[in-house]
Amino acid sequence: MEKKDIDWGELTFSYQPCDYSYVCDYENGAWGEGGLTADHTVTLSECAGILHYCQECFEGLKAYTTEDGSIVCFRPDLNARRMADSAERLVMPPFPEDRFVDAVRQVVAANAAWVPPFGSGATLYVRPVMFATGEVIGVRPADRYQFRILVTPVGPYFKGGVKPITICVSEYDRAAPHGTGNIKAGLNYAMSLYPYEKAHERGFSENLYLDSATRTYVEETGGANVLFVDGEGRLVVPQSATDSILPSITRRSLVSVARDMLGMEVVERPVRFDEVDGFVECGLCGTAAVISPVGRIVAGDHEVVFNGGADEMGPVMTRLRDTLTGIQAGTVEAPEGWIVRI
Ligand code: PLP
Ligand code: COI
Repeated sequence: MEKKDIDWGELTFSYQPCDYSYVCDYENGAWGEGGLTADHTVTLSECAGILHYCQECFEGLKAYTTEDGSIVCFRPDLNARRMADSAERLVMPPFPEDRFVDAVRQVVAANAAWVPPFGSGATLYVRPVMFATGEVIGVRPADRYQFRILVTPVGPYFKGGVKPITICVSEYDRAAPHGTGNIKAGLNYAMSLYPYEKAHERGFSENLYLDSATRTYVEETGGANVLFVDGEGRLVVPQSATDSILPSITRRSLVSVARDMLGMEVVERPVRFDEVDGFVECGLCGTAAVISPVGRIVAGDHEVVFNGGADEMGPVMTRLRDTLTGIQAGTVEAPEGWIVRI
């Protein structure tokens, strides 16, 4: 397979159209046959439900080239499941989970030339998205939808790759208690853009959101879950009492990597922000973020510093990251069912 002539190491996290996308329409109460398309545009009615009432959800996963040159995806069945959950919450017809995984296979295989080579530090980002194409004028669910998957080669999500970032505690909220924070709906990200720009203007890479009801507990950032390491070397994973944290597939995987492969103690529980001072490492985890180390969290005039203020990732986050990326690249044996060969 001849790869595209791209400087893979220079890629950032941005959109580059590839050869094919996958598209499937839902109408008359059923999903169509679906298939690959070279058309990367969408034509919509001005009255389409997505444009007015934001009936939309999406997913994010990656394809990797392993050491032996084969192409794999990481746990796409969990993305299929989460997208079905998101769809249900937004009264959209779930795309069948087996068809989701098959569509990922088809679109990644068709774009094999765009999957960055082993060791390049880049990956192929796979972005399934579903939205209401049917017309609505009163507030109600549409009767037509489109499911698409686009792919694009990407580099690190945060500038500087694995250098520790500084984030700030946002004065805005991400998710209402028992709202839509636990699904991957575009609407959660639309309302995060203003606080994101504000944080950027002040020199921060991301916002850390606290629980909106009490502003006491750590929830997550705009695009990743949060992990801590405490003074005893335990992995501390914030839980939400109000179901407003996105169930990150990376985080759930890291919890089993830490427990079952690295023999670490893992504590999943609500974490008060005022405890964070006592933790020694912090990282953001997600498909795009992988594990990105957090060096500092700023809250008003208070600053929490991790890993002794060092300019590099701490030892526990490094071990977790190396194991996870090793599993994805085929250099570390994967737990059963985690790796899907394309
Ligand atoms: N939290 C938010 C708000 C996200 O957008 C993402 C990205 O998908 C994550 C967490 C990480 O989830 P995952 O590990 O499934 O990519
Ligand atoms: C992902 O990690 O796949 C996401 O969707 C997060 C997004 C902020 C890029």
